[in-house]
Amino acid sequence: MDTRQLVDSPLAATPVAAETLGTPVPAALGTRRDFCVAACQALSLGAIAATLQACGGGGSPNEPSGNFDNVPQLPSISATVTNGAATLTVDGTALSSAGGAALVSSSLGTLLVVRNDATSVSAYTATCTHQQCTVNGLTEGVFQCPCHGSRFSPANGSVLRGPATAPLRRFNASITNGVVSITA
Ligand code: FES
Repeated sequence: MDTRQLVDSPLAATPVAAETLGTPVPAALGTRRDFCVAACQALSLGAIAATLQACGGGGSPNEPSGNFDNVPQLPSISATVTNGAATLTVDGTALSSAGGAALVSSSLGTLLVVRNDATSVSAYTATCTHQQCTVNGLTEGVFQCPCHGSRFSPANGSVLRGPATAPLRRFNASITNGVVSITA
């Protein structure tokens, strides 16, 4: 068969064009459109779910949502920093007796400090490991973040309730003759 005749013939060219640009292509476009619509819907639902999770509204038992404004706030104390150590005198403060806790501010940052007993104190960063809010509440004997309700142990800074998953960073802290000393 002469190829030139087929190419030059309108009868030969028309079926080829119809097969190439006709039925198969619209079918392919329809499939791609369906795929794109489904993919966009899935992505939108995923984005909404991610946003809800970031806001702590996911509904999981480990991700409380609600208003945490009513949690009692820790008293604030200022400390001075000398030679890399933040120091403060506990007389007349919440740290003067065992079980007391306070939010201590200094150039080292804002710290959660708890008086364990007569001879020891513990200190942790007050920066929440979830989304960096300042943990400033004390409820049911534990620290609580005001933003999404994460709770941390005063004993070791560990997470007692999410959405935070990482513990609070611990600082070295000691008390001698009524003076607390904290170093990074
Ligand atoms: S920033 Fe979300 S719980 Fe603290």
